[in-house]
Amino acid sequence: MKIAILGAAGRMGQKLIELARGTELEVVAKVDIADGYDRTWGAGVEGVIDFSYHTAVPDGVTKAAAEGIPYVIGTTGVTAEEQKAVDAAAAKIPVVQSGNYSLGVNLLLELVRQTAATLGPDYDIEITELHHRHKKDAPSGTALMLAKSAAKGRGIALDGAAVYGRRGDIGERPVGEIAIHALRGGSVVGDHTVLFAGELERVELTHKAQDRAAFAAGALKALAWARGRAPGLYTMRDVLGFAEG
Ligand SMILES: NC(=O)c1ccc[n+]([C@@H]2O[C@H](COP(=O)([O-])OP(=O)(O)OC[C@H]3O[C@@H](n4cnc5c(N)ncnc54)[C@H](O)[C@@H]3O)[C@@H](O)[C@H]2O)c1
Repeated sequence: MKIAILGAAGRMGQKLIELARGTELEVVAKVDIADGYDRTWGAGVEGVIDFSYHTAVPDGVTKAAAEGIPYVIGTTGVTAEEQKAVDAAAAKIPVVQSGNYSLGVNLLLELVRQTAATLGPDYDIEITELHHRHKKDAPSGTALMLAKSAAKGRGIALDGAAVYGRRGDIGERPVGEIAIHALRGGSVVGDHTVLFAGELERVELTHKAQDRAAFAAGALKALAWARGRAPGLYTMRDVLGFAEG
C-alpha cells in the first residue's frame, strides 16, 4: 500500500517512516512545510497518516476525501471548526482519529471508565499529564480522552465537570469535578495518571510511553485496518476491536 505521511519531518513523522520500512506500507510521499519535503502528495497514494499540526488537518482530510483514500489522524489540538471538515470527510472515506494510538492507553481508557463507574463521585478525579517541552497543545489529546472516559463512567458530560488547572482563591473542591493538569519538561514522551482520591484510600492508574514507536506502530496498523472499510469516523478502539464502553 502506497502511503503519504503528513508532518514527515517531525518527531512522529520520522518514527513512522522508520517503522514503515520493511512492512506492506510504502511511504511514497513525505509531506511537511520543512525544507526538502514534499508540499503535498501526488497520484497513486492509497492512504494518509497525519501527525502534523491541527491547522493542516482540514485540507489534508478534505483532499483525501476527494480522492477516496483512507486517512489516519494522530494530530491533536484539532478545533471544533476544523473538526467539521473531519466529520464531512468521514461521510465519504474511512477516517481513524485518536489522541493516542498506543495499545496501553486504549486499555487504560477502558480501565478508567470502569473505575469511575465503580467508585462513583465520592472519589475525586484528578488527571495529570507530563510531556516534553516541545509539545504545542495542552492538555494532551490523551488527557482529554481519559477525562471523557471518566465522565462516561460516571454517566455525566465532561463539559459541565471539567476544570483545567487551578489558581487563586478557589474554595473547596466541588463534588463531581474532573480536573486536568498539564506539565511540560525535558524529553518526556508522554506520561498520564488518573487519580481517584477518596476519604480513606486512593487509586492511581498510570501509563508511561517510553518510545514514540508505541504510537507510530498503532497508527500504521490503523491505516492498514482502514483500507477498504466503509466510510465513517473510527477510533483506535475500533481498530483494536475493543468493546464500546
Ligand atoms: N495520537 C497520538 O498517538 C499522538 C502521539 C504523539 C504525538 N501526537 C500529535 O502528533 C502531532 C505531531 O507531533 P510531533 O511530536 O511529531 O510534532 P513535531 O512538531 O515534531 O512535528 C510536526 C511536524 O508537522 C509539520 N507541519 C506543521 N504544519 C504543517 C502543515 N501545514 N503541513 C505539513 N506539515 C506541517 C512541522 O513542520 C513538523 O515537522 C501533534 O499534534 C502531537 O500532539 C499524537
